[in-house]
Amino acid sequence: MRTKVPFFINIPIIVSIIIFIFYIILGIENIKLIYHPISILFFFVIIILLFVLDFINELIYRKKLKSLTDIEKKNILDENEGNYFYRLYKFFNYKTKIDNLKQINHGFDDIIELDNKLPIWWVHLFFFTIVISVIYLCAYLFTDFSNPYQEYQIAYQEQLKNIEKFEKTMPQITIENATFNNHLIDSGKVLFEENCATCHNSDGSGNIGPNLTDDYWINIIEKDLFKNIFSIVWNGSKNNPTMRAFGKNGELKGNDIQKISSYVYFINTKNVSTSGKSPEGKKIINWNSVSIIKK
Ligand code: HEC
Repeated sequence: MRTKVPFFINIPIIVSIIIFIFYIILGIENIKLIYHPISILFFFVIIILLFVLDFINELIYRKKLKSLTDIEKKNILDENEGNYFYRLYKFFNYKTKIDNLKQINHGFDDIIELDNKLPIWWVHLFFFTIVISVIYLCAYLFTDFSNPYQEYQIAYQEQLKNIEKFEKTMPQITIENATFNNHLIDSGKVLFEENCATCHNSDGSGNIGPNLTDDYWINIIEKDLFKNIFSIVWNGSKNNPTMRAFGKNGELKGNDIQKISSYVYFINTKNVSTSGKSPEGKKIINWNSVSIIKK
């Protein structure tokens, strides 16, 4: 049987559709190769070869017709009558007619099986899924499109950028609105170990700097324990420059000081430490009644 559409029309159309789909997925930047003169030349050579192939096909078909019986010839001619476009039209409008249902009779069990061509829409759908699966596979293997790992990476990087942007523009906590927050203790601990542990020991029990887990305080500059801690880390100590102004000199941001202060407040108030550096300063039990020493 002859093809409905000649190769030299069929294949370039399919190739164009594939290129178009890749163009949609990849964007113009990545398919520049297709516009290269050599690619275009290659494309034209293939079309000419297909044209020749089609011509040979036609010759074989005519030759073959001569060697057939009259009935066979009639059947084949019926099926292949008209030009390409008429045959294509017939192909798309193929309908199963009830009176020429093909049947297979098993004979022994009286069951009659129908043996007809599949509906044409079904066949097309089937080929369409094959084409789509090939495109999808290529896109999955060679591009970022539809690859879950790549998509995850892209979304992840974007999220990180957004967080960075957010942190830059986010208003930082100041002494006025700083409060103790349970959830910040863990991240505060990490920051404390990075910035403070050299002088206060990683558990806050004191080293060069005083013990932060006892009730004795050298610096009393706020009427609230948490604010007092925040304030010292922000302003440093007036009597001893070794305890520097982490906030004022820009070493730590307000939000980080809130985290560190939450950790220091936590280790100070949970009162588990019995050892550590011996007490320095005034013992304070009730912060509300303290008189502020220095401001
Ligand atoms: C280079 C050493 C050093 C580092 C680092 C350091 N401190 Fe201090 N810190 C001191 C010294 C010394 C004092 C005592 C200041 C004084 O006598 O007034 C002190 C005092 C303090 C006090 C007040 C204690 C009191 O009794 O008045 C707090 C709270 C404190 N530091 C917290 C921190 C935190 C939180 C960090 C980390 C962000 C930190 N320190 C980093 C040396 C240090």
